[in-house]
Amino acid sequence: MSEAARHAPPMPSSLEVVDRNGGRSLWGRDPSQPLSINTHLVRWVEKMARLTRPAAIHWVDGSQQEYDILCRQMVEKGTFIKLSEDLWPGCFYARSDPGDVARVENRTFICSHSRAMAGPNNNWEDPYKMRRELKELFAGSMQGRTMYVLPFSMGPTGTPVSQIGVELTDSPYVVVNMRIMTRIGLPVFKEIDKDTKRVVPCMHTVGVPLAPGQKDVSWPCNPTKYIVHFPETREIWSYGSGYGGNALLGKKCFALRIASNLARDNGWMAEHMLILGVESPSGEKTYVAAAFPSACGKTNLAMLVPPDGLEGWKVWTVGDDIAWLRPDSNGRLRAINPEAGFFGVAAGTSEKTNPNAMATLARNTVFTNTALTPEGGVWWEGMTDEPPAECIDWRGERWTPEIAKRTGATASHPNARFTAPASQCPTIDPAWEDPEGVPISAIVFGGRRATTMPLVYQAFNWSSGVYVGATMGSETTAAAAGAVGKVRRDPMAMLPFCGYHMGDYFRHWILMQRSLSETPRIFHVNWFRKDENGQFLWPGFRENMRVLKWIVDRARGRAVGKETPIGWMPHYEDIEWKGLDFSKERFDKLQAFDRSAWRAEVMEHEELFFDLHDRLPSEIIYERELLICRL
Ligand code: GTP
Ligand code: SPV
Ligand code: MN
Repeated sequence: MSEAARHAPPMPSSLEVVDRNGGRSLWGRDPSQPLSINTHLVRWVEKMARLTRPAAIHWVDGSQQEYDILCRQMVEKGTFIKLSEDLWPGCFYARSDPGDVARVENRTFICSHSRAMAGPNNNWEDPYKMRRELKELFAGSMQGRTMYVLPFSMGPTGTPVSQIGVELTDSPYVVVNMRIMTRIGLPVFKEIDKDTKRVVPCMHTVGVPLAPGQKDVSWPCNPTKYIVHFPETREIWSYGSGYGGNALLGKKCFALRIASNLARDNGWMAEHMLILGVESPSGEKTYVAAAFPSACGKTNLAMLVPPDGLEGWKVWTVGDDIAWLRPDSNGRLRAINPEAGFFGVAAGTSEKTNPNAMATLARNTVFTNTALTPEGGVWWEGMTDEPPAECIDWRGERWTPEIAKRTGATASHPNARFTAPASQCPTIDPAWEDPEGVPISAIVFGGRRATTMPLVYQAFNWSSGVYVGATMGSETTAAAAGAVGKVRRDPMAMLPFCGYHMGDYFRHWILMQRSLSETPRIFHVNWFRKDENGQFLWPGFRENMRVLKWIVDRARGRAVGKETPIGWMPHYEDIEWKGLDFSKERFDKLQAFDRSAWRAEVMEHEELFFDLHDRLPSEIIYERELLICRL
């Protein structure tokens, strides 16, 4: 028996502990009454309630009224602080437990039938053993809390491309955030009642049962955490965390780890990619998808505002984190964003770096682990040039710039985030909810690399491009618990998110070419190369438009480049420099191809191949040989 269950009081004889009349007057309905006639769903909910023993069950209708009540209840409990209605209309602030601030990769499991199917890129546990462990952990885990029955659709509800899940969670914070991040509520129950699609069951508990009369904390969570996926039975079980990707199960758990399995089996792709549309001054639109690891610039690129000198160009936002890509009947690769909101990194987001994000998060947004200002606003490092004279930091302590200087404490946590509706983004693409998806002309890979990797280059063809993505390296960030700033291989930015063997995933990428009449062109970018003084060589942010323009022009077959051992690179003259003073000397430094650094780089690819060797597609092996020959 789990520690939590052992100390729990005996379970009530039935679930009739709900005050039905009280429920009716508060919610305008009895929330314990099922909102679905699907007997599988209703029976599963009953079964899970017998296991977790919540004090009440609440079927989530997804209405604004319900959202407002949940927010109000969280304010009363101390989980939420309502921000100033004048400064931040409709916004709330939450501070997590200091031990629950990011994804926990070492506690994330892919429990496929065999260890080999999960691959060396995933933690694996025998599914039977894991189920036994989870049953113990979940037994009585929701005592004293309400279990929310939260139906959600990834992709526009009721369209052929959407996937449905039901998350049973004891966290109202999760319900509120999922309402922003996905499509939830009655329309999804209606889909479930049609019984035409398989529903992915998602179990979530913060793992803190409450004894009768026991006072709750503002951010309940358990030091023991489990983020578990059963790919064959398409199930997700998450225990102990209330934060981000650990708890909002539609996001990384479903839309990437489970969906990557669905995608492999059905000829499509689930990727950690932003999707954007580049509109030229003549009105031509080109869509680009880009895979960068966590906290490496997807949200910023997806909302880019072109710089001075590139007037007339415009970037449209389709998605900032996840793309589902599939070939259409003409063999064109099309992408949808399965999400409905942005769960974006706060740090560094400002009117200067990302005005579209600032406009998006100006209202109806949940902020987690930023700092709280005395005026009832939020602040984070990089939001303004001048920090506030004083604020409450993400740990709830008084913070001033002087204290920061003395102790090094940041006011916001480096993985502090905003949860904001995508529909509020000023540059949201008119086609962002089109179930057909948008046609993708270019795929961009990119990491955070202080050395070796040039600003931009283009792979020779599809298979060499797959090799570029497969061998991608990036410095680790605060988005996951653990060391920050260490270069690791992060294939296609999917190392933490690929729900099966990475070698099979590479093969799936290679094979996708067969179902495409025309493959997107593949590129690699690096906004983060540094000079000998540790300063970024490239100004980044809106100036990235200059790189994007070359990418679009290359994809459309009208820009020049030069051949190098690693791929095609722009000459200095091939980049539009109007409005930016950037010397050829500096550009050459930024684009420098250093043969000896690349020899070391290829040796690091080896690290990956040692683990994956028995399942590597031959194309990857040949591409590596060719690269070595050219070096
Ligand atoms: P996830 O939501 O974790 O998947 O991250 P993301 O890839 O969407 O990252 P995001 O765009 O939020 O950027 C993360 C951090 O990188 C922020 O602190 C940004 O300020 C910073 N950043 C983004 N683009 C650039 C750039 O072009 N140059 C530099 N130097 N920093 C950047
Ligand atoms: C990431 O870490 O890549 C994120 C944030 O997008 S989370 O939803 O927590 O995974
Ligand atoms: Mn992400």
